[in-house]
Amino acid sequence: MLIATAGNGSSADSAPSPSLPGPASTAPSAVPAPRSGEAARHWWRDAVIYQVYVRSFLDTTGDGIGDLAGVRTGLPYLKKLGVDGIWLSPFYPSPQHDHGYDVADYRDVDPVYGDLAEFDRLVADAHRLGLKVLLDIVPNHCSSEHPWFRAALKDGPGSPARSLFHFADGRGPDGELPPNNWRAMFGGPAWSRVEEDGAAAGQWYLHMFTPEQPDLNWRNPAVAADFEDVLRFWLDRGVDGFRIDVAAGLFKHPELPDSPDPAADERTRDSVNPLAWNQPEVHGVWREWRALCEEYTARDGRDRLLVGEVSVRTPAEQAAYVRPDELHQAFFFHLLTARWDVATFRRVISEALTDIADTGSTVTWVLNNHDQVRTVTRYATDPGHTTEGLGSGLGPARARAAALLMLALPGAAYVYQGEELGLPEVVDLPDEALTDPIFHRTGSREHIRDGCRVPLPWSGLASPFGFTSGTDAARPWLPQPDWFAEHATDRALADTRSFWHLYREGLHLRRSLPQLGEGTLRWLDSPPQVLAFVRGDGLVCAVNFGTEPVAAPAPGIPLLASGDCPAGILPGSTAAWWMHAPDAR
Ligand code: NOJ
Repeated sequence: MLIATAGNGSSADSAPSPSLPGPASTAPSAVPAPRSGEAARHWWRDAVIYQVYVRSFLDTTGDGIGDLAGVRTGLPYLKKLGVDGIWLSPFYPSPQHDHGYDVADYRDVDPVYGDLAEFDRLVADAHRLGLKVLLDIVPNHCSSEHPWFRAALKDGPGSPARSLFHFADGRGPDGELPPNNWRAMFGGPAWSRVEEDGAAAGQWYLHMFTPEQPDLNWRNPAVAADFEDVLRFWLDRGVDGFRIDVAAGLFKHPELPDSPDPAADERTRDSVNPLAWNQPEVHGVWREWRALCEEYTARDGRDRLLVGEVSVRTPAEQAAYVRPDELHQAFFFHLLTARWDVATFRRVISEALTDIADTGSTVTWVLNNHDQVRTVTRYATDPGHTTEGLGSGLGPARARAAALLMLALPGAAYVYQGEELGLPEVVDLPDEALTDPIFHRTGSREHIRDGCRVPLPWSGLASPFGFTSGTDAARPWLPQPDWFAEHATDRALADTRSFWHLYREGLHLRRSLPQLGEGTLRWLDSPPQVLAFVRGDGLVCAVNFGTEPVAAPAPGIPLLASGDCPAGILPGSTAAWWMHAPDAR
């Protein structure tokens, strides 16, 4: 076996390895030819997918809102970055109460984003470039403007239209109290009362997010039948799979009983109601959807992918969703929510590798998405979530190190737009600019999601930074700060030490080195603040979570580092990859 494990500082005895500059520093001699058998593999098992938040990617119409034509324009940029495909946030017709996660028509494109012909061009161009296309499907709830819900309101209590949702009479003498004590994920009660025609007391309907997102009743077979048709509609247009919103939702406890542990008050968000999430019946839906994907694969040999947003408490609970006949992938959010702390990272990675990989699936790593504070800002304020680290350079350094760590782990990964630019969170958006329903429904207590959705900077020194163009161009839908100039893609591409080049090098190495992607991981002994492991027969990845330099564990031929690494040293807040070579020791 070629790797000697390094105990506390023991690698200092090794012969010095060449020093390891930051990004764009691959040692060509260590890079073998592309992996063999590429075509025979299931592409999704170690794919890296780029999440496009369409609204904030690139605007070609000058209305200040990104669109599908903008995504199409950006495809060569994404190809150059080296990702395997894209996931498009919802672009369906929607009143946009939750930026498209309130769908009024599952089989069309909102005119704000384009039309079906533009969508078809986007898929064709992506495929021509070898990029997969995933859509975001929202089966837990629809929009209150969906024709089904409009009919439910019109047709009244007891109607077939109402049975597509969770309508119930209220409690109290006049039905003035909601049917149970559940609270919504976005704050406030999970029930809203409707007005009936005539004098009848109004019924209530369930919405686990906003009142404009009524939950569908998956115990009604018509719901499943319609979603099958929706999936076929998009599969027939050539998509490669779906990201499934709220994949642990769909079924509620059949009796809709009171929650034993409801959120503390009206404005607190309730994210752990065990009667509304993770009900056993949901697995039957994923088995059906998987079978549908296999049906398409049997026709043309192309794998289709289902990736679930599965928010459950433990990795073991999550594992049930990626059994061989269910979802292909489920985002491993325990990494995303891990604080910048070596023990926490080691624990969640170990849990993922045992619990998830035991199912035969691969782990789906993720550090950022459109619902979370961006890593550059999040890690700056760890530990203890103080603001001390902001502006110290710690946030960017740790975010770069985390990126190299994620790309070295066995399995698949998702990169959220702007992550490759090292975009920090915009933490000081004025209240009047905030659009996130969570902000409004928690009585302005929480503003966590607008700051990571600010439109991307592409070029130039002032807003709109090339995001939107035209002489009458409207302002971007969320204001961009002046300092976005430092992160614009034109600057990132020109600077070999940028986040962009780090991601690009990491992605390209990942594709060409057989040790990366799917495969084995073996932990190495290392100093207490260091996480170090070997991939395959000799790729070493080490991350120094501390702030002081340490001797590099098991160095070899340097491949890539998230910051400058003098020979044989791993500085604080830095990650590095080496290829073990016996003659380097
Ligand atoms: C999860 C999505 O990521 C989030 O953006 C959305 O608001 C909720 N699901 C409700 O659909």
